[in-house]
Amino acid sequence: MTDKALGFGVDVGGSGVKGAVVDLHTGEFVGERVKIATPRPATPNAVAEVVAQITQQCNWSGPVGITLPSVVVQQVARTAANIDQSWVGANVHTVFAQALGTERVAVLNDADAAGIAEVAFGDPAARSGAVIFLTFGTGIGSSFLMDGTLFPNTELGHMRIDGAEAEQFASSAARDREKLSYKKWAKRVDTVLHEYERLFNPSAFVVGGGISRHAERWVPMLTVETPVVPAALRNRAGIVGAAMAAQSRVAP
Ligand code: BGC
Repeated sequence: MTDKALGFGVDVGGSGVKGAVVDLHTGEFVGERVKIATPRPATPNAVAEVVAQITQQCNWSGPVGITLPSVVVQQVARTAANIDQSWVGANVHTVFAQALGTERVAVLNDADAAGIAEVAFGDPAARSGAVIFLTFGTGIGSSFLMDGTLFPNTELGHMRIDGAEAEQFASSAARDREKLSYKKWAKRVDTVLHEYERLFNPSAFVVGGGISRHAERWVPMLTVETPVVPAALRNRAGIVGAAMAAQSRVAP
């Protein structure tokens, strides 16, 4: 299946690899999202094989966009969070192109993908001004969006605050691990946002990831001056952003 108005995105995470056909005009999925457990160890070849399986299951033969929890510079992975360390230094384009049998592959950081999807199809606040988009999940992902244009590969989740990396104490995984109430966790997120606000002075924070579904339980407790806006796309964002990246970088 290929069509100019359709794209295909795959989101590679620490626990699942998820893919779907995306309507690039609406940002909606066309048909079912397919999810396969992330292979262990999550090496480049093992993950690429799973991505190929997902495209086959969806009968897709066009360009494919893929997210990784990695800094990706000129299609080379520079870091690897929650996936095998052998990704570091790998040419990710080559890895996926070989497994998929096509050169029409674009790979980008997962939070960057979610950010561009939010700009295109999400809350209008993501589209204007100096926006910091954050995803709270296993880690904290970030993307910087200036009037909707991405500054890629920011890694704010790894910023050290009071001696620890932000994502170690304020990710959604940290909340689960330590069984924190929303109130206690919001206090930690607040500490992190105050530091980002002090250093970057954005016009808005847009907060995504699964936890944005419960935004009303923690966003009102934040005390930063910068407006904090829950992302509209939630878990769909990574796949949609990946499909958009493939469309703009490698299609037709
Ligand atoms: C990684 C980022 C990623 C984020 C969300 C962090 O640990 O360093 O690259 O965007 O997790 O998955």
